[in-house]
Amino acid sequence: MRAPRTRRRRTLPALLALAALATTAAVTAVVPLTTPPAHAADPVVVREATFEDGTTQGFRARGGETVAVSTATAHGGTHSLLVSGRTASWQGPAVDLLDEMTKGTRYTLSVRVRLAAGQSPGQARLSVQRDADGSSAYDQVVGDTAVTADAWTQLTGTYVLAHDVDGLSAYVETASGTADLHIDDFVLSYRPTPPVQTDIPALREVLADDFPIGAAVGNRQLVGDQATLLTRHFDTVTPGNALKWDATQPTEGSFRWTDADTQVGFAVDHGLAVRGHTLVWHQQTPAWVFTDTDGTPLTADPADKALLLDRLETHVRTVVSRYGDRIGVWDVANEVIDENQADGLRRSRWYEISGLDYLRTAFRVAREVAPTAKLYLNDYNTNVPAKRDKLRNLVGQLRAEGVPVDGVGHQMHVNVQWPSVAETEAMLQAFVPLGVEQQITEMDVSIYTNEAESFPTPPADRLRTQAYRYRDLFDLYRRYADELTSVTLWGLADDDTWLDTFPVARKDAPLLFDTELQAKPAYWGIVDPTRIDATPSPSPTVTPSVTPSQTGSPYPTGNTPSSTPTSGLDTCRVTYTVTNQWPGGFQATVRITNTGVQAHPGWSLRWFFRDGQRVAQLWNGSVRQDGDMVTVTPASWNANLPAGGTVEVGFLGSWSSANNPPIGFTLDRLPCVVG
Ligand code: XIL
Repeated sequence: MRAPRTRRRRTLPALLALAALATTAAVTAVVPLTTPPAHAADPVVVREATFEDGTTQGFRARGGETVAVSTATAHGGTHSLLVSGRTASWQGPAVDLLDEMTKGTRYTLSVRVRLAAGQSPGQARLSVQRDADGSSAYDQVVGDTAVTADAWTQLTGTYVLAHDVDGLSAYVETASGTADLHIDDFVLSYRPTPPVQTDIPALREVLADDFPIGAAVGNRQLVGDQATLLTRHFDTVTPGNALKWDATQPTEGSFRWTDADTQVGFAVDHGLAVRGHTLVWHQQTPAWVFTDTDGTPLTADPADKALLLDRLETHVRTVVSRYGDRIGVWDVANEVIDENQADGLRRSRWYEISGLDYLRTAFRVAREVAPTAKLYLNDYNTNVPAKRDKLRNLVGQLRAEGVPVDGVGHQMHVNVQWPSVAETEAMLQAFVPLGVEQQITEMDVSIYTNEAESFPTPPADRLRTQAYRYRDLFDLYRRYADELTSVTLWGLADDDTWLDTFPVARKDAPLLFDTELQAKPAYWGIVDPTRIDATPSPSPTVTPSVTPSQTGSPYPTGNTPSSTPTSGLDTCRVTYTVTNQWPGGFQATVRITNTGVQAHPGWSLRWFFRDGQRVAQLWNGSVRQDGDMVTVTPASWNANLPAGGTVEVGFLGSWSSANNPPIGFTLDRLPCVVG
């Protein structure tokens, strides 16, 4: 029987909050083209337990331990819940939440934990148990956190239920040991989010003449608002984890299709194409693949090699044939290049045991089973010249041998500062002579430029810089639309990105929609760059969540190139001053200071007018104007702009309706700080 709750679900305030949000959206929609995100309403508390009424308020033991109200210590008030008599670390207080949580909503769970008096310090965590069809799965909400008997520790995390379940509970356990512990002030809440914007252009329509646009997904992108956003903006999806070896064949011969079937099925039902990712990789591949039945690691001897290739053939045949023509593109192999090897080939277990034969086998079998699917080699950092060239050599060699490699996938996990557009262009150009297709397969633009940075909320200037990066890279992709058969982003929105845990745990914001699924400046960078600066500042950031889709094996560090500069983004500073203005005309000066560490020889300064102004005559440089975009290049005497140096240009311009200062100043395509 369920014990009484101290507080009932606040349904009415929730509805009122949502109604208020809807009103805000409707009123503001008339001003700009875009509806500014209606920002986070107060959290709605769905379930709370303070134990102040002397009952356990629905908390129960998970195993044979004892759960009872205690007045020995309390976090606020006089009561807490004491758990004693534990005989295993997984035992602890649990509360059933099946009636409280709905699929697709992002909840915050919070609980205070304190070890009982006299216990030595330890670690506790907060998790969710999901039960369905007689089996259970466990998702961590807050990982192991130090706890002591001297003070209360708060465990707070977010969780989205992405599966159908017939049982659901939250519980506290310890990393090890069986210490008695107290919990108090458990809260389950959610923040009503603004509706998915319907008054902004769909990305897939904006890019319809260029290439299909895709997003990596997990189950949680297939429900609720995420699903609405996904189907509104995207043409294709890539299951982010569900088709990897550890998901599809965790133990030899027993294939698991639940998530992959769900994701491919959703795509087919909604008219989305699917990229299959990935058949062969050195990550997320179970250990059994590379060991003998008695646990001995396989070697390069012929019998072991034959066994490995046999397993590979079975895997590729089974996975590819299950989806047939529902999957039109496969990343047959992922990340096989290591530019630090003279031959460019990654020394993975695949390579060590079979040389290049694993690639030959995988492509051959995939072609045999899915003759019309496009077969890709996919890799990261393909813009890095050494890696690019080694990948190109390998693709050339394999194709010359008759191995059916149809395309090259560029992951494009990049950041706000790296790589340059020129280097990215060289990446695309490099593969044109081979006559292969190319796709951008996993793009995201981290707001961080090194591993030491961490922002609780993405700073506005980073989001702006990011928007210009999206603008510039998509401009490039559009120029190469004949080569690129699709562009895919590694995620749908900032509420769920692998970069929250890679390369270090911190909140990142690398995608086009924010944590509340609202369009970011980055979205406008692709859709209409003149609106980048008009986009409202971001939603408050939420604690990085650990969700089912992120509990796979951690991706190795290494994507962040060693050449990534560690300086900030303050590369240039611009002061724009209208020195004189009269009806129809004005005079202005633009002062650029190179605040970066590198000189800019033959620099190019760019800005965008907002009110239709025109430059009539400019001194100290040359000017080109293309619509609202103005590009200034130096005169011979100021062609170099050294680090710390300043250049000033002046011009006469015309204006009519208004003469607001321009936006989007960049120096050699790097965004400048204005002021
Ligand atoms: C990532 C997933 O997004 C994570 O959820 C998972 O924990 C690790 O893998 N390059 C790839 C993708 O090819 O498969 C990786 O996906 C991201 C980097």
